[in-house]
This record gives sequence, structure tokens and C-alpha cells, in this order.
Amino acid sequence: MASYTLALLPGDGIGPDVMVEAEKILDVIENETPIALERNLIPCGGQYYTETGKEWPEGSFVFCRDEADAILLGAIGWPGVVTKDGDLAGGEVILGLRSGLDLYANVRPIRLYDGITHKVHGQFTQMWSPGLVDMTIVRENTEGLYYALLKRSADKARGGSGWEPDSMEFPGLDGEVAWDPRPISRKGSERVIRYAFELAQRRNGAPTDGKRRVTCVDKSNVTRGCQLFRQIFSEISGEFTETETNMAYIDAFTMWLVRNPEEFDVVVTPNMFGDICTDLASVLQGGMGIAASGNIGDHHAMFEPVHGSAPKYTGQNKTNPIAMISSVGMMFDWLGETKGDADCKTIATLIEQAIAEIISDGSVLTYDLGGTSGTSEVGEAISTALGILLRQHYAVA
Ligand code: IPM
Ligand code: MN
Repeated sequence: MASYTLALLPGDGIGPDVMVEAEKILDVIENETPIALERNLIPCGGQYYTETGKEWPEGSFVFCRDEADAILLGAIGWPGVVTKDGDLAGGEVILGLRSGLDLYANVRPIRLYDGITHKVHGQFTQMWSPGLVDMTIVRENTEGLYYALLKRSADKARGGSGWEPDSMEFPGLDGEVAWDPRPISRKGSERVIRYAFELAQRRNGAPTDGKRRVTCVDKSNVTRGCQLFRQIFSEISGEFTETETNMAYIDAFTMWLVRNPEEFDVVVTPNMFGDICTDLASVLQGGMGIAASGNIGDHHAMFEPVHGSAPKYTGQNKTNPIAMISSVGMMFDWLGETKGDADCKTIATLIEQAIAEIISDGSVLTYDLGGTSGTSEVGEAISTALGILLRQHYAVA
């Protein structure tokens, strides 16, 4: 019987609220499938830092690196809480793991489920069509504009004292200058761009024409780093001659994303652009309550909802848990791929199916989707639906 060790990092604010719902899904999986799960709950984040002076308990990074088969994260960040170096408290967790475990591809699927209405001008409406929004944005996750903080966080997570870029002169600037280097390397670009092309081979192409298409989003008309990124994109595309390529500058891309989402299949972009455009893209699928993600490397992976800690909703039983539950689905898909475990692949598919059922049914949804149910009712409804699907599957199998 397969058994997997999971590191569960609830973090701040609504992170623990949605982690409770993720655990309901894990309970169902343990009850209804041959899979055993060893769960390790690790407190962490800005609130934990306020209480303890640490971002997570000693040894947590090593546990995530050496013991965990996969990592699930809630949310990181609490208003006004920074470390003594002035960094994001909890950065050691989210950025330390992204950098320290080389999770170079931040994979963010954008798919519009049937039955979703979006909130625009404060009203619920259907702006985009299900079936015409189905893309995955792959955000570079270990360098770019986040490089200095990523390195510093990983260094602290490994027990070091932090890392600073060398000082640099800024001719023509007077007085105090804060700066963030934005290195983009050949190695960092190659691996994430290749990941994007390989991902396209596993998908069904763009909604508009079913063609496999990878879009490079950058600002190569202006910056050197993006010129290198685009050059490498062109080189790697030569290995995938059956896949269409497309290139867009980030500013124009944000416009096309909203206007013609059906043309996009897989999108690959440097770190900061990916951070921004994935929040925008979440609107196409009904908002941050739906948006799931995986931080994926060659040997490790961490899954998390794209949303933050939303302090004002903490403990209110308001937050939509679907982004988190869908991240659990991505985690099982990744376990299925990397461990060659068909049960995990089935679980991933059935989690998605359970979510789709609850959304199209429409009677148990949170406020962001126009419903009146709470976090726990939605989590309950999806885990019940998943239980039924799993029982059917294993009864037939
Ligand atoms: C995200 C978040 C993080 C990021 C923060 C919390 C460091 O916004 O996952 O998109 O900027 O990457
Ligand atoms: Mn973000």
C-alpha cells in the first residue's frame, strides 16, 4: 500500500481556515482509497513569528526537503509583521522553499468551470464562456525581480544569516537608493521554458482551435533579461516543432488575456510578470477563490492557493476553499506523475470532478461566487461528492 508523507503548512490568516478543508479531503482519500497519508502540520508565518520570534520551528526546512513527499501551504503574510531585517515574515517558508528546493516552475491553471458567475461592477454576471477559458500560466519561480529575497530566504531557511547583493553605484541618483537586482539566467530560463513546452504536450491545446501553443510573455523590447528569456524561448521551441509559439509583451498580454483568453494554452513568463498577471487571470475563472497553484521542481513540489492570507476574513467561515482543494488535486496529480501511482492520478481527476459538480449544482457556494454558504459547508459538500466518486471508482475497479 502506497504511503506518502505530507508537510502541511497552514500559515497566516485564512490559510489555516482552508487547510481544515484540505484535511477533510485528505480524510476522504484515506478512508476510500488504498493510499495512506502521514500528515505533519507545521505552524508558520507572520503570526507565528509574532508569537515565537521564528518563522517556523527549527528543522522545518530539512523536514520539507528530506522527509516530505509533497508540501501543502495555506497562505503567508500578516499586516505590519516583518522580520528584524525588514523582510516579509514567513518569507523563509514560502520563498525559502521555492528557492531552497529549486521549485522553478510556478504552475497556475486558469480554467472557467461551468456555472461560475463573476463579480463585475459589484454585480454577478457571465463575462467569459466556460470551455473558452482554459490555459496554464507558468511563472518562473527562482530568479527575476524576486532573486535577492529568494536567496536571502533560502539562506535563512538553511540556518544562515541572509544574503545581500553587492552594492552598486547608480550614477545620477542622489541620496538613499533601494534596489532589487533582476537577474535572468540561461539555466533558470531554459528549465522553466522547457517545463512549459512539456506541459503543453500533456494538454489539449488552446480552446479556440485545439492547437498546442506556448506563449512567451516578457518585456524584451526594453530589458536585457527579457531579451535573453525570449532568445532561449526561441531556441527551446526548436525542440518542439509541432507546438505553435506566440510572443507578447507583458503590457499587451494583459489586454489580450482579458479580451481573447481562448487563444492561450500555455503561457511562460518571468517571476514578477507572472505574479501580477496570474491575479488578473484569476478573474477569468471567477476570482482568487478558485485559483490554485503548484511550485514544481525536479525533486520537490509545494502546492498552494494563489490567494493571500486575507486577514479580515480570518476565522469568519467566509473564504472559498476551492482554490485550496484544487491545489490538493494538483498535488495528487504531481504525486501520480512522479511516483507513477495510478491511484493518485485517479484521486486528482476525481477531486476536479467533485469541484465541478458542486459549482454547477450551485446550491453550496461561498459569497464570492454569489452563494450564501460558508467555508466549511463548501468543504463538506466537495468532500462528500469526492467520497461518492471514489466509492464508485473503487467498486467498479
Ligand atoms: C504569490 C504571492 C507571493 C509572491 C508572496 C506572498 C511572496 O503573492 O504566491 O503570488 O509574490 O510570489
Ligand atoms: Mn501573488
